[in-house]
Amino acid sequence: MNKTLAMAFLLLPGAALAQDADRGKVIYDKWCAGCHGETGAGDGEAAAYMLPRPRDFTGAIYQVRTTASGELPTDDDLRKVIDEGMPGTTMPAWNDRLSGGQRDDVIAYLKTFSRFFDGADPQPITVGRRPGSPSEEDLVEAKRLFDDELQCLRCHGNLGRGDGRSAPELTDDAGFPIRAADLTKNWRFNGGGTVEDIYMRMRTGLDGTPMPSNSDVIDNGIITDEQLWRVAQYVRSLAPEPRRRDVIRAARFEGALPSGPDDAAWDDVDRYYIPMVGQITIQPRWFAPTVDDIWVQAAHDGQTLAVKITWNDATQSPDPAWDPFFQGIVQTLTDVDGPHRSAQGPDRLGVQFPIAPPTGTELPFFLGGDTQRPVYMWQWTSDPDRVAEGTATGLGTFVANGGSSQVSHAAVFSEGQWQVQFSRSLAPADSSVAVPFTPGEPLPIAFYAADGTDAEDDVRGSVSAWFAIYLDVPTPPSVFVVPFLAVFVTAGLGMVIVRQAQRRDRGV
Ligand code: HEC
Ligand code: HEC
Repeated sequence: MNKTLAMAFLLLPGAALAQDADRGKVIYDKWCAGCHGETGAGDGEAAAYMLPRPRDFTGAIYQVRTTASGELPTDDDLRKVIDEGMPGTTMPAWNDRLSGGQRDDVIAYLKTFSRFFDGADPQPITVGRRPGSPSEEDLVEAKRLFDDELQCLRCHGNLGRGDGRSAPELTDDAGFPIRAADLTKNWRFNGGGTVEDIYMRMRTGLDGTPMPSNSDVIDNGIITDEQLWRVAQYVRSLAPEPRRRDVIRAARFEGALPSGPDDAAWDDVDRYYIPMVGQITIQPRWFAPTVDDIWVQAAHDGQTLAVKITWNDATQSPDPAWDPFFQGIVQTLTDVDGPHRSAQGPDRLGVQFPIAPPTGTELPFFLGGDTQRPVYMWQWTSDPDRVAEGTATGLGTFVANGGSSQVSHAAVFSEGQWQVQFSRSLAPADSSVAVPFTPGEPLPIAFYAADGTDAEDDVRGSVSAWFAIYLDVPTPPSVFVVPFLAVFVTAGLGMVIVRQAQRRDRGV
């Protein structure tokens, strides 16, 4: 072999790697540094607005791994989070933004942030086969393991809604407050929502967070690998299959309307899934909202409209047990658009309708209207448990109507979930300050939600797009159009994420 060739041979592997990482740096500086910081320390310009914070790569602690607890991730693990993003966080998916080669390069560059990767060759753990579909008894047994042997309920709560006894005091390794995931929303799991994903997160833990690895529980013979798979199947069974529909139909009741949110008469009424996103249009903005979706049901009897709204919120705010969490939020998101309140406020839910019938596609600003096009609004708070009826010309500008409210309500909080029923007669006493509800005529409707424990208020919170509500007429027309329906794009996006997660799982 001649000398030059030998030199080239010797240099080749190292040179190729260095080149990858060099190209990766260009990608990183352009696409990742804004969040993760130029030096990889998780302190990019945008970081202060986010919770969870962008990963600090210098510590080499990774959540989404197929390797044992405390180990480095494999390249495939890094590839998965970069490709798919981390649902439920601001970490985007890059598979349709960067080419495969660019993603490989950026992985090579990420690894240069920590010397732990030098010469390391992390290996995935070996796992048993996923058993077939669980029977009812398998799921009952899995729930028992979830409660007793594995103590999942200590953090995630009895029904998995993130309201366990330990939940108020959880922090990640950097000391930031962190929520025990709401297990009924698999589309928000950081590492993906399939049974395989859930099993792997339970086996290997989410390093850097309180979510533990359960491998030792198997190694010590406390439960079998198959039983852990069953728990993964049980967790997956907690998540519904939401479908996006733009028109909420209020069913026509011949008999009595439901008397409250826990009346069994609601069981037969369709549930409509409404995605919610953080309010980031007007100041103060809010990037880390608690309420990322609500479910709406509606019914009327020709006289009265009843609307029931259900959403998960681990806390009935204000709740003194959650003061540590509230303080953590206030101290963490301290730089975002001004000061916070000094104590937990109530939970809130707003339901809004345009005061004037929309013409063409002209709807009020979805954030509580504006001075040109005000909204008519029902504003509920948990403490005091009260609903006010009034108008708004933008979030935080709500003015209650004079006189007595025509809206009645009942609210129930149980195991990390609010259910609130609003009722109002179809024809308002004073139609200059309240919107009439007319069967057969669709009316735009939009929602606002806030969690007092999360330091949210009447501007910092989450919002929906405009949807429509349609009160069924006794014989529904076969063709039914809503010409003015304008859909706010990020709400649609929420649904895309849900659908992708559910589709992926069905594909397994
Ligand atoms: C808009 C902000 C944002 C941008 C841009 C961003 N990330 Fe992230 N990233 C995050 C956040 C937030 C987390 C942490 C989420 C968590 O802790 O649950 C994260 C986590 C990660 C993780 C850790 C995964 C794990 O298993 O713990 C990797 C790897 C990562 N990002 C890679 C990248 C790469 C590569 C880019 C650029 C191509 C990028 N990120 C761009 C916000 C961002
Ligand atoms: C000590 C508290 C604690 C215990 C015990 C615990 N978890 Fe978690 N779990 C968490 C936290 C905190 C998160 C959220 C981590 C994050 O957002 O990055 C989480 C996240 C999850 C996730 C979402 C994973 C993802 O990809 O984002 C699942 C699924 C889960 N846990 C299931 C379980 C199951 C099943 C058990 C019992 C075997 C369990 N957890 C026990 C605290 C706990």
